[in-house]
Amino acid sequence: KVLTNFDLEKMVDTSDEWITQRTGIKERRIADDGIATSDLATQAGQRALENAGVEPGELDMIVVATFSPDELLPACACHVQHRLGAENAGAYDLSAACAGFVYAFSTAADFVRVRENAKVLVIGAECLSKVTDFTDRTSCIIFGDGAGAVVLGESGDSSDVLYCSVGCKGGQAGMMTIPAGGTRMPASHKTVDDRMHFMRIRGREVFKFAVRKMSDLLIEGMEKCSLTVDDIALVVPHQVNLRIIEPAAERAGIPIEKVFMNIEKYGNTSGASVPLALDEAVKAGRIKRGDHVILVGFGGGLVWGVSVVRW
Ligand code: UT7
Repeated sequence: KVLTNFDLEKMVDTSDEWITQRTGIKERRIADDGIATSDLATQAGQRALENAGVEPGELDMIVVATFSPDELLPACACHVQHRLGAENAGAYDLSAACAGFVYAFSTAADFVRVRENAKVLVIGAECLSKVTDFTDRTSCIIFGDGAGAVVLGESGDSSDVLYCSVGCKGGQAGMMTIPAGGTRMPASHKTVDDRMHFMRIRGREVFKFAVRKMSDLLIEGMEKCSLTVDDIALVVPHQVNLRIIEPAAERAGIPIEKVFMNIEKYGNTSGASVPLALDEAVKAGRIKRGDHVILVGFGGGLVWGVSVVRW
């Protein structure tokens, strides 16, 4: 379902004008009741395999970046492995919030380097609507559901993952949490009554961190690969907030035309946002073989990551 800003106006004390100006978001996608993250992840995985011309049986590993898995146990990736029929693949989830896809991409790239002929399916997938408090206007206007995927393997040509780095500032873990349902605060009637199973964010603090971190990561990626702004075809950032992405790109000296954005349609889909944007960028012809592309993500943890790719 498409949930527009006008729909949200009827649910909480907000307005299309406020959401558009403060975030750049106009609408987001919401999965139906009964649909879980692995359903979206499987579909994205299937399409990525088709596009790559890879059979499910050829996969060595499936990594699903998510913090909204179907259940705490088993991993979302296990459902995906079964439904794809990828019987030769190991499968695990990676939890790094909005940096999840970049983290997973980085570990998958390392796996492909050390294991001959390896093929890894990397999926970013979230059903954030299921963990969103639709009575909290400070968070419910931001998030949406989605999934995207890539297949990594040896290309046999000059395309490559040139550089990856990830980081964490665990002391800031409280900035974005789902307080209950884990082992610190197991589920109880009280946690349900107190709405403790929904996301809580300290948006303004994340905002400040994100502008500086995103621009630092873009500069780091270019410097480590000895690339200049002119060498970069496209930046595909975590779709966090237009008001974060624009100043961050400017601070890194990257013209905004080189930054792909689709936040207006999907909102912030956390681990899914980079692969969703990557897919649309490729389909729109914004990325061609040989182009240098930077993927960048950051989020609750606090965590961050950057990957520089020669497509
Ligand atoms: O991907 C990683 C996770 N993402 C995040 O953590 C989000 C990062 N942060 C953000 O994107 C922005 O901080 C927000 C979009 C969450 C908020 O934008 P902001 O410009 O930082 O707004 P604010 O929190 O400073 O609030 C400004 C005003 C406040 O009113 P007062 O105190 O100035 O009277 C809020 O109460 O806007 C009010 N407000 C709203 N008004 C209408 C907060 N939420 C809303 C709303 N509609 N939905």
